[in-house]
Amino acid sequence: MDYMTRRPRRNRKSEAVRRMAEETTLSLNNLIFPMFLIEGENQKEEVSSMPGIYRFSLDQLLVEIGECMDLGLRAFCLFPSISESLKDSMATEGHNPEGLYIQAIKAVKEKYPEACVMTDVAMDPYSSDGHDGIVRDGQIVNDDTLEVLGKMALAQARAGADIIGPSDMMDGRVAYIREMLDDEGFTDVSIMSYTAKYASAFYGPFRDALDSAPKFGDKKTYQMNPANKREALIEADLDYAEGADFMMVKPALAYLDVIHMLKENYELPITAYNVSGEYAMIKAAAEKGWLDGEKTMHESLLSIRRAGADVILTYFAKEFAQMIAKK
Ligand code: PBG
Repeated sequence: MDYMTRRPRRNRKSEAVRRMAEETTLSLNNLIFPMFLIEGENQKEEVSSMPGIYRFSLDQLLVEIGECMDLGLRAFCLFPSISESLKDSMATEGHNPEGLYIQAIKAVKEKYPEACVMTDVAMDPYSSDGHDGIVRDGQIVNDDTLEVLGKMALAQARAGADIIGPSDMMDGRVAYIREMLDDEGFTDVSIMSYTAKYASAFYGPFRDALDSAPKFGDKKTYQMNPANKREALIEADLDYAEGADFMMVKPALAYLDVIHMLKENYELPITAYNVSGEYAMIKAAAEKGWLDGEKTMHESLLSIRRAGADVILTYFAKEFAQMIAKK
């Protein structure tokens, strides 16, 4: 055998050495917990395709956020499930100051001022068409949608939101929202833009949870084609120029190359959204005993960080925090 000066295995010989040589870390500071909100009181319903994830009425959401804060999580992203009777073609309920969503942001910030509340800006939870923009003659209209998105962002900022999260993929929305917020004095409210959001099949369980699937067609005229990578640079250039504070890639696991590319090309913090379908896959395999759920969760989150994500939105946030707490 040839003499070997370099033996990479030496850096793997013990837990202490392995830890010293570890390149990527995963901390609760990097995680945002997406949570589903429903109307009513004392409600906590498990989402059938997302074991361990619930739809909470506001009172229960506050309890859950309290538990998460005790575990060390600080950032939460809220998504509302709106009853069909409140939906209309202009998503009016999305900026109703008395509505479920805006009231929830206010209540969370009142009870937990030190929590970081991220919002969702898109028409789909409130739209009778189930699309992220206004529908006219079967088309998703870009520029008129911006007005609705701006109103939603403003109502959320007034309620105390820390980070506005436009997930709609309309062109020009970051600049439009930034200007509207600044005009009203909300210069400190951040924008985490869904920069490269793909038209993905991995959103299925989320749409079940919120009953927000499009009533016709798909989202391919506004969300990105999964075959495209360089196009994400065009979106990123625009978001950067339009004033985004964070740039997001969504989904995460099937798009690690895109996360990596944005990280290499921009100085802004990069976020990845580890979406509902990615969560469901691991949970389903773990329930069958085909995968070790905890280890697979940890490895997936690490891979997203290793690819370059500074921040991860993940349904595993609480479970990961619990895992750390028991170690
Ligand atoms: C819609 C929105 C979606 C998600 C977040 N915001 C779904 C969609 O675009 O239809 C998906 C998140 C997930 O799957 O976890 N504005």
